[in-house]
Amino acid sequence: MARIPLISGNWKMNLNHFEAIQLIQKLSYELRNHDYDAVEVSVHPPYTDLRSVQTVIDADRMRFQLGAQNCHSEVSGAFTGEISPAMLAKLNVDYVIVGHSERRALFGENDAVVAAKAAAVFGCEMTPIVCVGETLEERESDQAESVVETQVRGSLASISGDKLDELVIAYEPVWAIGTGMTASAQDAQEMCSHIRKVVASIRATSRNLVRIQYGGSVKPSNVTELMAMSDIDGALVGGASLEAESFARIVNFKDA
Ligand code: PGA
Repeated sequence: MARIPLISGNWKMNLNHFEAIQLIQKLSYELRNHDYDAVEVSVHPPYTDLRSVQTVIDADRMRFQLGAQNCHSEVSGAFTGEISPAMLAKLNVDYVIVGHSERRALFGENDAVVAAKAAAVFGCEMTPIVCVGETLEERESDQAESVVETQVRGSLASISGDKLDELVIAYEPVWAIGTGMTASAQDAQEMCSHIRKVVASIRATSRNLVRIQYGGSVKPSNVTELMAMSDIDGALVGGASLEAESFARIVNFKDA
């Protein structure tokens, strides 16, 4: 069974709800119906924009999947300032990014926290996009594969067997995020193939089902080459997703 590519726009802490509505409308205008035939497209606005974006997607029957950037691992309780996965599910959120490197580095999330969040997202009938990736220091000291393997094993530890098939993993080398430096298509392919082998060692049947995105300075000029790699099934796009025209060209990677 062919894996359907997933192109995701991670807006990070950008755009208020008015700006978010404008961006989704422009994006919808840039894309044609057949653009969605062979690819799934998700947008991940900040929490405060979700309801507005969801309303526009529904009202105009846009073919975007709605995504969030994070959530808590509990569905309710005394967690001031946090957002429950059940609340996201109520907003028709499909995908939730968990363990983004900015969450790991700036907000102290370790693999155990990421694992609990990923399981909670599945528990609320949504799909987690679990992020992994090495730092430059780790790559230069030849530890990239082992670091990423540890992250994959740790971050998937709480996911039950059959759910693993539906998982999305985003390989995002930390040194490539927001820097303009992209991993070469070959390096990205090698790591994604390694990740697929690690997943297969946890559950053999998931090998050909799990989707693996590449992320880190993906742009219209490099997406085609990355997407041509056999183990890369999509892209997690930050900066270039904030501009409708560039994100639309990434979605159209076949003729970018
Ligand atoms: P970037 O961000 O495309 O701006 O490098 C990617 C990400 O952080 O998901």
